[in-house]
Amino acid sequence: MTASPSPASSSQRPTRVAVLGASGRMGAAACRAVGDAPDLELVARIGRGDDLSAISEAQAEVAIDLTVPSVTADNVRWLVDHGIHAVVGTTGWTDESLTALRGQLAERTEVGVLIAPNFAIGAVLAMRFAEIAARYYDSAEIIEMHHENKLDAPSGTARHTAAAIARGRAAAGLGAVPDATEKDPDGARGAVVEGIHVHAVRQRGLVAHEVVQFGGVGEQFVLRHDSFDRVSFMPGVLLGVREVAAHPGLTVGLDGYMDLG
Ligand SMILES: NC(=O)c1ccc[n+]([C@@H]2O[C@H](COP(=O)([O-])OP(=O)(O)OC[C@H]3O[C@@H](n4cnc5c(N)ncnc54)[C@H](OP(=O)(O)O)[C@@H]3O)[C@@H](O)[C@H]2O)c1
Repeated sequence: MTASPSPASSSQRPTRVAVLGASGRMGAAACRAVGDAPDLELVARIGRGDDLSAISEAQAEVAIDLTVPSVTADNVRWLVDHGIHAVVGTTGWTDESLTALRGQLAERTEVGVLIAPNFAIGAVLAMRFAEIAARYYDSAEIIEMHHENKLDAPSGTARHTAAAIARGRAAAGLGAVPDATEKDPDGARGAVVEGIHVHAVRQRGLVAHEVVQFGGVGEQFVLRHDSFDRVSFMPGVLLGVREVAAHPGLTVGLDGYMDLG
């Protein structure tokens, strides 16, 4: 992981960066982080209703998308069309929108796109550790907790954690999680993502939190990650900005830029 510029890069000209969703909570934090990084230069701040051509006019090389699920796929399509690398934190991507993006990138092989469901380093590690732990436990459930203004549920991180657990279970030859529930008219058992139950809490005062519970005979193993402040996402955002040009094509998950074995 490269959380700060290397001595070699400090002698080069700064990378030109645009931020989409610049007035939002994450976007504002990203503008500050880019502005404070000596190897990066913030050249465009894009908000709702702004013309995206301001990004190409400012000659941005990398754009960070921290907008809303309904517009992010269109934004990234425009960026790829214009040969601008994209670092995307906005959630709400579907299998269909990812497939369409892969198709577009096959035509623009020089462009890199990172879609990171979670930029917090600890959350990325928790997903990786969950995949390993999943091989050893019969039961696994996820509880994700976010602030009351979050638009989608379950969170992108919870979906990716569920997928990681499913991969771990499949590798170990584990079947469905044990669950005798016969009656659940109100959905008390939560959403089921890749066979894993996911419970979403929306509560004022929270930022982004995830608990992964594993259960075996006579024991429980719990992984927990808490982002108490949006600054926790910024080392990951900057890592993405610095690495995206060196990773053409689509990378889903910041772990693609980290050496996690
Ligand atoms: N990957 C991660 O680590 C991570 C962490 C936290 C959050 N997120 C995700 O990041 C996204 C932003 O979160 P947030 O908490 O910052 O939300 P937010 O405060 O609501 O910010 C979203 C911003 O996007 C703007 N926007 C809407 N449509 C736009 C468009 N077409 N072009 C440019 N800007 C547009 C909004 O403008 P208006 O104010 O005018 O509506 C708003 O300023 C969400 O999808 C969230 O789930 C990701």
